Amino acid sequence: MTAPILRTLAELREMTRGWHRAGETIGVVPTMGALHDGHLSLVARAKELSDRVIVTIFVNPKQFNNAQDLENYPRTEHEDARKLERFAVDAIYVPDGAQMYPDGFATNISVAGLTNVLCGAHRAGHFDGVATVVTKLFTQTSADLAFFGEKDFQQLQVVRRLARDLDLGVEVVGCPTIREMDGLAMSSRNLLLSDQARSRASALNDVMEDMAEALGQGASMGDLLPDATARLATAGFSDIDYLEMRTNDTLRLIETASEPARLFAAAYMAGVRLIDNIDVPVVR
Ligand code: PAJ
Repeated sequence: MTAPILRTLAELREMTRGWHRAGETIGVVPTMGALHDGHLSLVARAKELSDRVIVTIFVNPKQFNNAQDLENYPRTEHEDARKLERFAVDAIYVPDGAQMYPDGFATNISVAGLTNVLCGAHRAGHFDGVATVVTKLFTQTSADLAFFGEKDFQQLQVVRRLARDLDLGVEVVGCPTIREMDGLAMSSRNLLLSDQARSRASALNDVMEDMAEALGQGASMGDLLPDATARLATAGFSDIDYLEMRTNDTLRLIETASEPARLFAAAYMAGVRLIDNIDVPVVR
C-alpha cells in the first residue's frame, strides 16, 4: 500500500486531527531520507507501538555545517516511498524548506551541556539545527511517540532532554543500532566509500568491541588508547575526531567503566566521517 505523501502542514494537521479525535496514538519517525535498514527498523518499532505512523523526510539545512555536505546529501524520495510500502505507514510527510522555515524564521532551540561534547564539539551549530527541526516536527505531527536510533546516541539524548524540558508530551523511544554483517553501523554515508575503504571501515567497530570488553574487565581508557589508535591508523583511518567513554545519561567523560557508559568514536575513512557508539559493561 502506498502511503499518502503530504507536503504541507495544513494537510498533515487535517489528517492528524481525525486520528486524535478517534483516540488513536501517533508515532513519528523523523529522517532525512535515503532510507536503509537502520531507518526501517525504527519504522517497524513505530508500527508495533503506535496506532498511526508518520515518517518524515526532510534534509534539514540548519544541521549541516558545510554547504557541500548539504548539496551532496542523497535525495531518493521515490525509492524511499517504495521501501516504506511493506510497512503500510499512514503518511509520509515531506515538507519543503519554505514550509519548515518560512521567511523571517528566527527561533533557535539550543540544549545546553549535552551538546558541547563529541559531535557537538566538532560540528558547530549542528545540534541546534537538530533540536530546532525535531521540536517543529514534534509539534507539527502532534506525535505521542517518537523513534530515534542509538546509532546517533548523543542526538537521542539531546532529543530526550528537549522533549522533557519543553513539555512536548512526546515519549522518545530509543532503538538499537542496525549493522552490516561485518559490524559496520548502517549509514547513508557508507555509500560514499570505495569498495576498499568500505571493507576497511569495519575496523572501527572491531576496535571498539575489543576496547569495550577490556573496559568491562577493569582496563582504563589510558591503557587502551595507544593500541586502539594504532590499529585504526593501520586500517586506514586518517583522523580520529574522538574516541572516548562517557556516561549514558549526562555524557560525562570517564576513564574506567565504573558506571553505565558507552564508548563513542568518530573517525575519517578515505575522507568520509564515520561515527559509532557501543555499550560498555560496568566493571563488577
Ligand atoms: P537520519 O540520519 O536520516 O536518521 C534518522 C534516524 O535513523 C535517526 O534517529 C538515526 O539515529 C536513525 N538511524 C540511522 N542509522 C541507523 C542505524 N544503523 N541503526 C538504527 N538507527 C539508525 O538523524 C537524522 O536523520 C536527523 O538528524 C533528524 C533526526 C531526522 C533531524 O533532522
